[in-house]
Amino acid sequence: MLKLDITKTAPFVSAETINGYASRVAAVQKTLELGTCPGNDFLGWLHLPTSITPEFLADIKATAATLRKECDAVVVAGIGGSYLGAKAVIEALSSSFEWLARDGKSPAILFAGNNIGEDYLYELTSYLRNKRFGVINISKSGTTTETALAFRLLKKQCEEQCGKEVAKKVIVAITDAKRGAARTCADKEGYKSYIIPDNVGGRFSVLTPVGLLPIAVAGFDIEQLVRGAQDMERQTAEGTPFENNPAAVYAATRHALYTSGKKIEILANYQPKLHYIGEWWKQLYGESEGKDGKGLFPASVDLTTDLHSMGQWIQAGERTIFETVISVEAPKYSLLFPSDEENLDGLNFLAGKRVDEVNKMAELGTQLAHVDGGVPNIRIAIDCLDEYHLGQLIYFFELGCGIHCNLLGVNAFNQPGVEAYKKNMFALLGKPGYEKETEAIQARLK
Ligand code: PA5
Repeated sequence: MLKLDITKTAPFVSAETINGYASRVAAVQKTLELGTCPGNDFLGWLHLPTSITPEFLADIKATAATLRKECDAVVVAGIGGSYLGAKAVIEALSSSFEWLARDGKSPAILFAGNNIGEDYLYELTSYLRNKRFGVINISKSGTTTETALAFRLLKKQCEEQCGKEVAKKVIVAITDAKRGAARTCADKEGYKSYIIPDNVGGRFSVLTPVGLLPIAVAGFDIEQLVRGAQDMERQTAEGTPFENNPAAVYAATRHALYTSGKKIEILANYQPKLHYIGEWWKQLYGESEGKDGKGLFPASVDLTTDLHSMGQWIQAGERTIFETVISVEAPKYSLLFPSDEENLDGLNFLAGKRVDEVNKMAELGTQLAHVDGGVPNIRIAIDCLDEYHLGQLIYFFELGCGIHCNLLGVNAFNQPGVEAYKKNMFALLGKPGYEKETEAIQARLK
């Protein structure tokens, strides 16, 4: 099981202070359970893992099998919560050199609709030219510009390359049951489609078809992923004693640190494959917490890589940070350092050791150095990088986020701030219906 270690926060906030939050955390978790917290129409994620049925997973797997059979590449079109969970899990489980050593069994999983880079889209569509490719179009609102733009290009190309009939087999929509252009298009074209439940927001949706379908298409075991999340849901159930509930302890510790003046949480990993777990986590926490002038700023680093860049800042910059490390106890493979007769690099003292032993000592040495430098350290350890442990980690972070937002007193489940850029962009592009905004913005730019 996932292990949470908060002992290295002790020099900064005492265990007493953290434990002092136990009753508040319990009360907050009860409001999630009873559905009396702000944003209570978005609590579908809370018991999502244990509500997933084998029939539902079988249906996802059947769709994934079709895409795996018919396609050499599958493009996941989506942004924010509509792609980060899938990207994070797929990257964490894939070979680091997947794109070089494709086994021919799994289609390449590509992502689009998460930026408006013309070169990106040009290069993607060029890569797909004359390839058998499919598209998973993911948008809860069904109207997100970045995703809709990419989907329009991809749909056209797919139909031109393989014909409308085959395109119908390899384009899948994951969207709202009734609303939005993605729903209208899926129904009109007769695409296989999945519903994103009304009560599950984008950033909490990785265990819906939003994450499960792309992960299954990539060839990973979604049953194990869900089982890990289910076990974590049970382990952290409302009413669990504080000290046995890692999500509650994590939320309380973050809150104690935030209240003590630590305003930035840096999520660190020591496995390059976890880079996108950091991206997913930043979205989950940043978009949920950053409201009403409050919220920890979520940052992430890949270590030891970033010890040679951000390491300086973490060690000795402004002391407003704390660090949360995801540590993977056992790597999948074993690689020993060889001995070298000449020992020109002076590394013979490592001969016969596993690479991971060096990594673990780097991790421990960094933790000690950062604590000495004034950076409280939280450690989250998982046994290994597999579907089951990622499932645990996902639910742990989701619940920790739900609890902490309520400790802060913000609605975890909306994102009103995201609208500001869209309004300006539409006004600048002259979108019909935005005439007044266009006028106002043009006056501002004069
Ligand atoms: O977490 C969220 O709700 C957002 O990040 C959304 O996932 C993101 O904006 C994409 O929205 P949609 O799925 O409606 O295209």
